[in-house]
Amino acid sequence: MAEPLGALTRTHTCGALRPEDVGADVVLLGWVHRVRDLGGLLFVDVRDRAGITQIVFDKDDEALMAKAKRLRSEYVVGVEGRVRRRSPDTVNPKLATGEVEVVVRRLTLLNEAKTPPFPVADETPVSEDVRLKYRYLDLRRPNLQANIGLRHRVTTVVRRFFDANGFWEIETPILTKSTPEGARDYLVPSRVHPGEFYALPQSPQLFKQILMIGGVDRYVQICRCFRDEDLRADRQPEFTQVDVEMSFARPDTVFGIIEPLMREVFGVVGREIAIPFPRLPYAEAIATYGSDKPDLRCGMPIQDLREVFRESGFRVFREIVAGGGTVRGFVVTNAGGYSRSEVDGMVDQAKQMGAAGLVWARRAADGTITSSIMKALGDEGVRQMLDAAGAGNGDLLLVAAGEPDPTSKLLGQLRLNLARQKGLLDANQYAFTWVVDFPLLEWDPTERRYVSMHHPFTSPSDEDLGRLEAEPGAVRAKAYDLVLNGSEVAGGSIRIHDAELQRRIFSLLNISPEEATLRFGFFLEALEYGTPPHGGIAIGLDRLCAILAGESSIREVIAFPKTANAVDLMSDAPSPVDSKQLRELHITIKK
Ligand code: AMO
Repeated sequence: MAEPLGALTRTHTCGALRPEDVGADVVLLGWVHRVRDLGGLLFVDVRDRAGITQIVFDKDDEALMAKAKRLRSEYVVGVEGRVRRRSPDTVNPKLATGEVEVVVRRLTLLNEAKTPPFPVADETPVSEDVRLKYRYLDLRRPNLQANIGLRHRVTTVVRRFFDANGFWEIETPILTKSTPEGARDYLVPSRVHPGEFYALPQSPQLFKQILMIGGVDRYVQICRCFRDEDLRADRQPEFTQVDVEMSFARPDTVFGIIEPLMREVFGVVGREIAIPFPRLPYAEAIATYGSDKPDLRCGMPIQDLREVFRESGFRVFREIVAGGGTVRGFVVTNAGGYSRSEVDGMVDQAKQMGAAGLVWARRAADGTITSSIMKALGDEGVRQMLDAAGAGNGDLLLVAAGEPDPTSKLLGQLRLNLARQKGLLDANQYAFTWVVDFPLLEWDPTERRYVSMHHPFTSPSDEDLGRLEAEPGAVRAKAYDLVLNGSEVAGGSIRIHDAELQRRIFSLLNISPEEATLRFGFFLEALEYGTPPHGGIAIGLDRLCAILAGESSIREVIAFPKTANAVDLMSDAPSPVDSKQLRELHITIKK
């Protein structure tokens, strides 16, 4: 039975007590972490957010001991007692409080608990689904507490940083009109306007631009965004952005804010990072790393090997080069240890990823050369190829050929898989890069039209304005992503601030003037009232915190995340609603 809190007031957290406190009378409030009954003595670890303290019951006080014997894991207790030094043989160096214990004088049993479905400990033997269903228990685990605490410290630093730099935090609507960011909208039916819907924001993009038109000059918001898209470890249907917009900004202006911000944020985990960050044009990122979010921790750049094959005896590659295709490859250093079957495994991996084939060549430690195309290319040809790629003794060269972009992307994927297998991706290293000069548009073969690579409000680069209509696919954008360890942690751009240019872009995207007016009329009109040049960026706060916490899934830094099926297992959302509610919303469900 639960006893009242009464006047019990905590004097120390469960992480606070040290040898200096020996002799002090203290009050601790927390959960029973572990009970050890040694017959004459009963030891209990009491846990709260700050840590764990050992408390001791002595058999001399029979009533107290009897009460203590009822304690089970996760019971909530109030403990009054005196701090004493532990005997040397019982000191626990793993605990910050491990040199002391509290001898209990009075125990208040604030609440009981059912036996938890998994132990509240760093290691959980259960599936993530069970953890999500009992998230309140999961949240008590020390590593999740550390992650949630870290996230709080990060947002605090972010808010202070932006305040110090003249940004105002402004809330924008959640019930709004759709802003396209490339995903489906979550819709909210209107009760008072039958058949009409609000959209939850995929981002506050249009509102932050309108704030610039409204003379706000510098805006920031730590805001929730909603996107109905296929979920992965780094995607949630609702996630948090640090959303930023600045008037009179060039890309440099934005970088000049985000780089020192990142330095402060990494200070939260005691890490010093070097700024400014390198800048990598999109085309180079694709050619060299096969990805627009390259992981720069592992080297292994992809190289152009066309020259080796232009006139070679290996007909397949020669013809691909003659037909305007490419031959590219990368060197895996110190790969002498790979067995023939492991190399064959890589070839199979490449085939599974859709490659027509993967060619390999290697120099053993003693300089002996072998290759899958030894016969066709000849000893000298293989040697030339290895030399061209800079492969030394003990190195392996992997080569693919075909259309430039798919070939690079395939090699990029292979490069990453290998880097993971070889343990080259050091979680303690932070490799930042800006990816710049993105194409403005990309061709969508299913919709048979151009779509925005970022969003339709991104400005084309000044130099490419002239070829907007003639060569839309070749136009670059004033867009940038911030990539950290192969993860896109932020994305942004300089915006179109000219209504006429915005209309031209809509028309390139096959959005008719009528549709543009219907969807974005308010915004097009706003653009006509003295819009300053402006630009900004949004940081994926969940992804950033996951990297800071060393977690591979953003679910580990979100208090109440959803599953890959967009379900909240704890509250059981989404769920059916009653027919009265549906009637009020003018909705009928088709079975
Ligand atoms: P973008 O769509 O690139 O840009 O989003 C910005 C950053 O948000 C993070 N992110 C996500 N994180 C978790 N789950 C998701 N489903 C998810 N989707 C995106 C990424 C990404 O880099 N309005 C523009 C920003 C701008 O132009 O200023 C925008 O939303 O880390």
